[in-house]
Amino acid sequence: MSKILVTGGCGYIGSHTIVDLIENGFEVISIDDNSRSSTHLLEGIERITKVKVKNYQVDLKKFEDTHAVFQENNDIEGVIHFAAYKAVGESTEKPLMYYENNLFGLINILKCVHEFKIPYFVFSSSCTVYGSPDSIPVTEQSPVKKAESPYGATKQMAEQIIEDFAKVNDSNTILLRYFNPVGAHPSIEIGELPIGRPQNLVPAITQTAIGKLPDMTVHGDDYDTRDGSCLRDYIHVADIAHAHTLALQYLQGENNKSKCDIFNLGTGNGYTVLEVIKAFEEVSGQKLNYNIGPRRPGDIVAIYANNQFAVDNLQWEIKYDLKDMMRTAWEWELKLKEHPELAKI
Ligand code: WQD
Repeated sequence: MSKILVTGGCGYIGSHTIVDLIENGFEVISIDDNSRSSTHLLEGIERITKVKVKNYQVDLKKFEDTHAVFQENNDIEGVIHFAAYKAVGESTEKPLMYYENNLFGLINILKCVHEFKIPYFVFSSSCTVYGSPDSIPVTEQSPVKKAESPYGATKQMAEQIIEDFAKVNDSNTILLRYFNPVGAHPSIEIGELPIGRPQNLVPAITQTAIGKLPDMTVHGDDYDTRDGSCLRDYIHVADIAHAHTLALQYLQGENNKSKCDIFNLGTGNGYTVLEVIKAFEEVSGQKLNYNIGPRRPGDIVAIYANNQFAVDNLQWEIKYDLKDMMRTAWEWELKLKEHPELAKI
C-alpha cells in the first residue's frame, strides 16, 4: 500500500483529500502544527473511513522536526503539500509572516523530498496566480500576472521553486491550481472551519443564515458582469480532493508530460456572488440577510477555469454542482450549531 504524507492534513482541503486517498487504497500520515486547525477533522476522517490517521504536530519551519518525520517513515512514496497560511487580507497586513511560513515550510519539505528520494510531490496552488486575467476561461498557459497580495505571491514563488527543484531532482511534481473550493463532505462529518469572521463568500453566507453573523455584505454590484457582482469558479471540495488522488495515480502511471505538470481545478463554470446567494436561498429555504456594499480592494472582476487538461489527463469527472455545494455547506453549518465543540481550534 503506497504511503502518502499530507501536510496540512487537519485543514479543510487536506482532510477531504485524506478521506479520498484512504478510500482509494492509500495509507496516509499527516503533518499539521494545528496552529490554524484542530484534530477534530481527523476524528471526522476516522468516522468516515474507520481509519485513524496519525498526525505529527510539527512546524514545517523547523527543519529538524520535519526531517524526523521522514526518518521515522522511510516508506513515503508521495507528498501532498497543503500546509500554508491562506488569508488574502491578513497576508497584506503581515507579509513577512506569510513569506516565512509559506516558503520556509515548502523549502524544508522539498529538502526532505530530495534527501529521502520521494518520487511524487503534489502542491496546493491557486488560481490567484493568474491575477486579473485578460481573457477567461483561463488555461494553464494563461499568463501568471503580478500577484494582488502577498498570499498570492507566495503561491507564485512556490510554483517557481518547485519547477526549479523538479529540473534537478528525480521527483516528478504537479501543481494543482484550485479555483474556489466550497462545500463539505457529503457525510457532513468534515467541512470548513473558518477562524474568526470568514472572509470567503460561502462561510459568510452560511454563518449569516444561521445567525452567527447579523448580516453580510456583497462587495460590489457595479462590475462588468451579468448582474454586476464578481464571478468565480466555485468547486466542491470533494471534487478537489479526488483530483489529488488522480494526480498521484497519474504520476504512478508515469503519464506525466513533464517534471512539473500544472492542472486547473475548476468546474469550467462561473457564477456571480448574487447567483451563489440565490442558489443558497433555494437550497436552504433561508432568505439571506445581505446588503450591497462597496467593492473589496484586491478583488478581481471575473475568473473561471478551462479544466480540459485535468479532465483529459487525470480522467477527472466533476461530480457536484452548485446546489450540492450550497446544500453540503449549509448542512455542515447546521452540524456546527449542534456541535459547537467541532469549531474549537
Ligand atoms: C469570492 C467573491 C468577494 C465574502 C480567495 C483567494 C483564493 C482562495 C479563496 C484560499 C468575491 C465576494 C466574499 C463576503 C462578498 N484562497 N464576497 N462578501 O477572493 O475569489 O479567493 O479565497 O484558498 O486563493 O484568492 O474568494 O470567497 O473571498 O470571494 O461579496 O462576505 O465573493 O468580494 O467577489 P476569492 P472569496
